[in-house]
Amino acid sequence: MTRAKPSVAHPLWDIPTRVFHWLIVCCLPLAWWSAEEHRYDLHQWIGYSVLVLVATRIVWGFTGSRHSRFVDFLVGPGAVLSYLRGGRASSAGHNPLGGWSVVLLLSLLLLQAVSGLFNSDDVLFSGPLYYWADTGFRDAMGVVHDVAFNALLALVCLHIFAVLYHQFRLKENLVQAMLRGSAPGREGRARPVAWWWAALLLGLLALALWWGLEQAPKPSFVF
Ligand code: HEM
Ligand code: HEM
Repeated sequence: MTRAKPSVAHPLWDIPTRVFHWLIVCCLPLAWWSAEEHRYDLHQWIGYSVLVLVATRIVWGFTGSRHSRFVDFLVGPGAVLSYLRGGRASSAGHNPLGGWSVVLLLSLLLLQAVSGLFNSDDVLFSGPLYYWADTGFRDAMGVVHDVAFNALLALVCLHIFAVLYHQFRLKENLVQAMLRGSAPGREGRARPVAWWWAALLLGLLALALWWGLEQAPKPSFVF
C-alpha cells in the first residue's frame, strides 16, 4: 500500500519580509521622535536604514519568495473591484486591495527617506545631497519631507485599522503570520528563497548608498 505524501506547509511570509516589516515599524516612531528632538545626528541614520530596507524590499519584490513578489499580489482594477464585491483573492498573501496599499506604503517610505537627503534644519544639520541641489529643488524636497510624513501617518493608521478588521472581525490570523511566518489559514504555497540572499542584497545596497553619498559635493565655506 502506498502512503499519501504529507503535504508540506510553507511559510507565507519569509524571514526577510518579516524582519523588514518589524524593523520599519520600529524605525518610523524613532525617525519622528529624533526629528522632534532635533537629534539629526541620529535621525539621518534611521533615515538611511529605512532607505536601505525599502530598497531591499523592492528588489526582493522581484527576486524573493513567491508571496513577497509583486507579481503574486498585484492585480488589475477589474480584479480589485471583483474582490471588493465579495470575490476571492487569488494570492495566499496580500489581498488585491492590500497589495496596492503595500506599493503605496513602500513608495511613500522611499519618498520620505530620499527627500530627507536634500533637507536641512537651516541651523546645524544638512542632508548629504543638500549641496548638490539648487535652492528651488531643496525647498521642494523640504515640503515633500513634511507632506509625505503626514500622508504616511494617515496610511499607516488605515493599514493598522485594516489589519485589525481582518484579524478580529473576519477572524484571519494576519498578525500571527507576520510574526511567525505562517498561521492556521495563512500558509504559503511555495518553498521560500533562502534568507541570506536578502542579507547579501541588503549589504550590497547599503554599500552602494554609502558610496553614492560619498560622491556628493561637500559644503565649501569661505571665511
Ligand atoms: C509604522 C507602521 C507600519 C508600517 C509602515 C507598515 C508597513 C507594512 C508593509 C509595507 C507591509 C507589506 C509587507 C510586505 O509585503 O513586505 C505590511 C504588512 C502587514 N502589516 Fe504592517 N506596517 C506598520 C505597522 C503594523 C502594525 C502595528 C501591525 C500589527 C497590528 C502590522 C501588521 C501587518 C500585517 C499583519 C501585515 C500583513 C498583511 C497581510 O497579510 O496582507 N503592521 N505592513
Ligand atoms: C523614512 C525616513 C524618515 C522619516 C520618517 C523622517 C521624518 C521626519 C520628520 C517627521 C521630520 C519633522 C518635519 C517637520 O516638523 O518639519 C523630519 C525632519 C527632517 N529630516 Fe527626516 N525623516 C526621514 C529621513 C530623513 C533622512 C534620510 C534625512 C537626511 C539624511 C532627514 C533629514 C531631515 C532634516 C534635515 C529635517 C529637518 C527639516 C526642517 O527643520 O525643516 N530625514 N524628518
